[in-house]
Amino acid sequence: MPPGQYSTIREFLKKSAILVKVVKKIRIFRHFRWSDWRDGRKIRLFWLVEPYTTVGYDRLNNAYELAVRVEKEKIPGDLVECGTWKGGCAAAMAYAAGRGEGRKVWLFDSFEGLPEPGEADGLLAKEFAADRNTGKLKPINECVASVRDAEEIFFDKLKIKRDSVKIEKGWLQDTLPAASANMGPIAILRLDVDWYESTKICLDHLYDKVAPGGYVIFDDYGHWPGCRLAVQEFFKKRNIDPDLKVIDYTGRYMKKN
Ligand SMILES: C[S@@+](CC[C@H](N)C(=O)[O-])C[C@H]1O[C@@H](n2cnc3c(N)ncnc32)[C@H](O)[C@@H]1O
Repeated sequence: MPPGQYSTIREFLKKSAILVKVVKKIRIFRHFRWSDWRDGRKIRLFWLVEPYTTVGYDRLNNAYELAVRVEKEKIPGDLVECGTWKGGCAAAMAYAAGRGEGRKVWLFDSFEGLPEPGEADGLLAKEFAADRNTGKLKPINECVASVRDAEEIFFDKLKIKRDSVKIEKGWLQDTLPAASANMGPIAILRLDVDWYESTKICLDHLYDKVAPGGYVIFDDYGHWPGCRLAVQEFFKKRNIDPDLKVIDYTGRYMKKN
């Protein structure tokens, strides 16, 4: 192929990559409301975090708005996300709540992707995990991200204070017991770990740390039956029936009294 054509192909690939990036942004920005378009800080934030999150506009906006709210209402405590992937949604919360001034942000993830689902997660999860559902803490090569991805959005792009961010790498079953023992109150607990066992262990260790007036977000409540079951069993055991507000087809959130 003549050298001239190499540069044409390179140009073409470059332009396609830009096009793909723009198309991906549309999944978030087509839902922007008039009030969002008037907020330059929010447009920039959502533009920057979009490649680092799997959640769509409604759930990203919910996390952002709740972080703004806990600041305004002066609800004490840290921001915690269990199941961060590349950290975009957690970074949006951290940015909205003052970029690490005053509150810590805890990121819990294996950074190896999802483990195997278990039987409680249903057939769809088994299919998603290429016919595995033993519940073993073995990566199934879905939702894999690295610590570096999270550092990139938190520190390089959004300039969030380094010492306010605690990255807990590993299986929740290994990291949560020790980390939660050193944790103070939580203002927002965001659970996005898909499976029954993962959701259960988060609730067992962290729910009681959520401050009165703080929020708990369940990203997978409508989508994954195992998550829903873990939440329902937890509240049944506690004999409480919190008002779960609908974010979208899957996300729910509640205010703790
Ligand atoms: C759907 S992704 C999270 C999406 C993320 N919140 C976002 O903003 O895009 C689910 C994450 O949960 C993590 N995860 C699920 N179960 C886990 C476990 N038992 N221990 C550690 N990480 C787990 C996976 O590694 C994966 O990154």
